[in-house]
Amino acid sequence: MPCRGLAKFVIISAPVRDSINPPEKRLSATPHPSHANAAHSLDTLGRPLRDLRISVTDRCNFRCVYCMPKEVFGKDYQFLEHRELLSFEEITRLARIIKRHGIEKIRLTGGEPLIRRNIEGLVAMLAAIPGLDLTLTTNGSLLAKKAVALKAAGLKRITVSLDSLDDAVFMKMNDVDFPVTRVLEGIEAAAAAGLAPVKINMVVKRGVNDHSVLQMARHFRGSGHILRFIEYMDVGHTNGWRMDDVVTAREIVDMINAESPLEPADAHYRGEVAKRWRYLDGSGEIGVIASVTQAFCRDCTRARLSTEGRLFTCLFATAGHELKPLLRGGADDDAIAAKIGEVWRARGDRYSEIRTAATGSLKKIEMSYIGG
Ligand code: GTP
Ligand code: 5AD
Ligand code: SF4
Ligand code: SF4
Repeated sequence: MPCRGLAKFVIISAPVRDSINPPEKRLSATPHPSHANAAHSLDTLGRPLRDLRISVTDRCNFRCVYCMPKEVFGKDYQFLEHRELLSFEEITRLARIIKRHGIEKIRLTGGEPLIRRNIEGLVAMLAAIPGLDLTLTTNGSLLAKKAVALKAAGLKRITVSLDSLDDAVFMKMNDVDFPVTRVLEGIEAAAAAGLAPVKINMVVKRGVNDHSVLQMARHFRGSGHILRFIEYMDVGHTNGWRMDDVVTAREIVDMINAESPLEPADAHYRGEVAKRWRYLDGSGEIGVIASVTQAFCRDCTRARLSTEGRLFTCLFATAGHELKPLLRGGADDDAIAAKIGEVWRARGDRYSEIRTAATGSLKKIEMSYIGG
């Protein structure tokens, strides 16, 4: 398959989502009291900017069928050139500038973030910014090697993706024959290094790994790690998503609850992506991320920075806002902060709430490019 360059993504200065948000369905722009803060910009739906997800590479050593199918991300696929990537200094400068807008959490993502050379160096630079929760999402393949260095650099916690405990199923899903045991070793190394609690993300695809749900729940119950089940999403446009492939959060909770009774638990913070469920016998908790059947856009405070310095205001955006020309063109911090404020204040994204056949045909960015 010929390469699909990323350059084709349109660069805009106003969010495209507004054009598909029917005015009568818009949410109120009045901020929730816990969202109100005079010093910080609110978007058109009253949402503050709280989380920044930074993608540090568009490459990955896995080819998960729901994210980077081999037929598309084959040997001819054109990933970004090194010179196109933001340097660690540029990322850190942007993070400091965005911090002025009130961000409280930075999550490093990819592709696979641990394949970026000296990622712990970037972690150390970001950890020097005071007052931030600093975390990272990884496929776990290099974690056993990197956990201690990441912790020492100042990473606070970590999330590991794992879709099954069954080697045959997992290998079919990662499509590079990567064994389960190596990811489990990574998880244990992370916990031992103090990156706890480790969160485990499992994307559930019907007919592919839904029969692994109970096995995963049993394995991680009582382990101190927090297992979260993610509804398979229509992110990007290469994974051939169909609603029939989605195992709903409700189905997952019902399945586990029938075996080990659960009760709902309160969110840790407003806008928490995962809905928490606690085992009645006190043996821990699970989470479900129901972005398809119970969208959480109303409280979405996330901005995403791509590997090459584009700011996206939604996981499902079709276009980003270029920051690299400002960074490399001599703009001062105030000018960059003003640009980010302008982008955020114009934001009206709520893709998951309005998912329709019409929006399904839009050319959305790929998850591997923007991070989860
Ligand atoms: P915590 O900081 O531990 O609460 O992490 P989190 O749950 O916010 O982050 P994580 O990266 O683990 O998110 C889990 C998954 O939820 C991602 O991999 C995505 O599949 C999904 N997700 C996260 N943010 C969004 C979002 O803004 N929109 C949608 N639709 N899905 C999201
Ligand atoms: N639907 C839901 N989650 C996805 N992820 C990647 N693609 C999808 C998708 N189509 C998740 C991965 C990982 C995180 C980076 O994003 O499993 O946990
Ligand atoms: Fe790589 Fe994560 Fe995408 Fe899998 S889901 S291909 S591990 S970026
Ligand atoms: Fe936020 Fe967009 Fe996800 Fe809705 S679909 S929660 S607006 S990133």
